Amino acid sequence: MGVSPRTLRQGGLQRLFTFLLKPLLAALFVTLIFHWTSKPAASKNPHPNISKALVIASTKSSNLTWLPSAYKSHWKPHIYVTDDPRAEYTVPINKGNEAMVYLTYIIDHYSDLPDVIFFHHDHHQAWHQIFSSSFELSQLNPLTVQRQGYVSPRCLSGCENIIELPGDVAPLDDLKGATRDVQISTVLHEFMRDGEGRKVEVPKRIAAPCCAQFAVSKEAILRRPLEMWVRLRKWLIETPLNSRSSGRVLEYTWHLWFGMEDVFCPAEEQCLCNVFGLGQCPTKDIDN
Ligand SMILES: *[C@@H]1O[C@H](CO)[C@@H](O)[C@H](O)[C@H]1NC(C)=O
Ligand SMILES: *[C@@H]1O[C@H](CO)[C@@H](O)[C@H](O)[C@H]1NC(C)=O
Repeated sequence: MGVSPRTLRQGGLQRLFTFLLKPLLAALFVTLIFHWTSKPAASKNPHPNISKALVIASTKSSNLTWLPSAYKSHWKPHIYVTDDPRAEYTVPINKGNEAMVYLTYIIDHYSDLPDVIFFHHDHHQAWHQIFSSSFELSQLNPLTVQRQGYVSPRCLSGCENIIELPGDVAPLDDLKGATRDVQISTVLHEFMRDGEGRKVEVPKRIAAPCCAQFAVSKEAILRRPLEMWVRLRKWLIETPLNSRSSGRVLEYTWHLWFGMEDVFCPAEEQCLCNVFGLGQCPTKDIDN
């Protein structure tokens, strides 16, 4: 069976076409992605009835040139400047890193909280962020935050930072030489309460995606009495622990104060789908 020259030529053209088309499509795709991620949000608000606050922990030297994207995606920014006592939003004492900012926001706004609050660092893209901050702000689904109570923008394929807590505690004012697990266990033991105000058992192990950036619902904050948030911040103000250690205690436990399970490691696909509306949704859980 002979192949006619005509078929050969057609096959050649087809291959040439594919050869050219593939890179063109790839380039178009990359351009579109860049376009979407660098120019967040059409200004129409898809959730006009959900109020959203963005709480930023920054210092005088922070580079916040990315922040205008927050306004475009309908977040009301609260920019805390921890080392400037004259800033519009600041902290009683510059200690405990972003934890002091987050607790101060909660305490000062407890009676007048918006529906959804995104607690965030000052940078646009850190190693622990999968997406840029402007992408996070424009794509984060507030309905998921309202439904779950607490959401991490860091969607991972596995669990990170699993911390075993043998349960040993120390006096609250004597944590300086204590190991990380004793520091965490002690603070949980001291301040965590159940619905009736009784102390609860310290979990055996805890885990959540890293690095103290998360969105919560108003309800997740209100499920703890104001007094508890005040006591927690009082500890942060008074503790002899350095900022790194005391901030870290909260960094590893935020999900617990907001009522999530001890080991909070949502499946990656589900997380991407629920939090950002990305990819194939494993369950019919999307409500974007
Ligand atoms: C927002 O609230 C207004 C007034 O209650 C209502 O008419 C409107 O349908 C709501 N919009 C959405 C998108 O839920
Ligand atoms: C601030 O960050 C932007 C990128 O987000 C960068 O282009 C700019 O050079 C930075 N400015 C300074 C002073 O570092």
